[in-house]
Amino acid sequence: MSASSGENALREVEAKGLAAIEAARDAAAIEAARVKYVGRSGELREAMKLLRTAPAEERPALGKLANVVKEKLTAAIEARREALAPGGASAGGGVDVTRPGEHRASGHLHPLTQIEDELKHVFACLGFKVAEGPEVETERHNFSALNIPLEHPSRDAFDTFYVSDRVLLRSHTSTVQIRVMESGPPPVRVVMPGRVYRPDRVDATHHYCFHQIEGLAVDENICFADLKAVLNLAMRALFGKATRTRFRPSFFPFTEPSAEVDISCPFCGDGCGICKGSGWIEVLGAGMVDPAVFEAVGYDPERYTGFAFGMGLERLAMLRFGIDDIRLFLENDLRFLEQF
Ligand code: DAH
Repeated sequence: MSASSGENALREVEAKGLAAIEAARDAAAIEAARVKYVGRSGELREAMKLLRTAPAEERPALGKLANVVKEKLTAAIEARREALAPGGASAGGGVDVTRPGEHRASGHLHPLTQIEDELKHVFACLGFKVAEGPEVETERHNFSALNIPLEHPSRDAFDTFYVSDRVLLRSHTSTVQIRVMESGPPPVRVVMPGRVYRPDRVDATHHYCFHQIEGLAVDENICFADLKAVLNLAMRALFGKATRTRFRPSFFPFTEPSAEVDISCPFCGDGCGICKGSGWIEVLGAGMVDPAVFEAVGYDPERYTGFAFGMGLERLAMLRFGIDDIRLFLENDLRFLEQF
């Protein structure tokens, strides 16, 4: 046997073997290729037997080549096995479909956003649109146009964050009432959610930053009964059909008459720790828009009447979800947020 025919025989086994391994589509096919080409009585062994007839001086080189071919085929078999194994590149594009799934936390809405969305939905059903205003406001929108007098304590630098002389962080969302009325004539039906700021010492029920949702309806012939009906509906939607409301006389510069509104305690029938034994919980301020406010925005107070209300979203969310510390809303602690 000539050297070249010996070499050719080895090269042929290599080429056929590699092709068969590459063509294998499962473990059984790989095993069959292994037996056929590098097995004990496989084609490589047969080719090597022939080498014994080659000239003595060529045998060492052919022996080496035979080893190289064997290594190549063995490596190719190994690589093909790995590629076809579960999780390998050829099995489902690198995805091991048999592995247990990895849990990916899907986000959800913040409890305050949930309450805000629910209220916006309830009021939308009653014909209210949504409006928003800036958090950095003028003194006029936060105070003067709302009939809040110069000597009112909330105008004090200790009770409001002033940015400069007449510019401040709004202390309530009532500012947006003014902006909405300035932007067009009645009729008006809007709710105005947003963030507000007060330099309060932070504790379980106070924060320098919290959220309110404001409401305003202005038209001819709007009366206090409309206000009661709207708020009754909203509170029942939020806290359940059995919820009752109670209007207590109060004072706000921008409403006349004014009321503070309580809901029957959602946690008890006749008194518990949360309602401090009274059966009632205060949730918002409301009233009929003061004619002075209409004058400030150029509405005719002889022709139009309206009602307004404002409530704290944290307070509602705390009642609704049984949360006892307002600070939790702003701490971004997932252990808290994941519960809602
Ligand atoms: N702006 C008031 C506050 O932050 C809440 C309020 C009371 C809003 C009565 C109103 C209202 O629109 O009519 O304490």
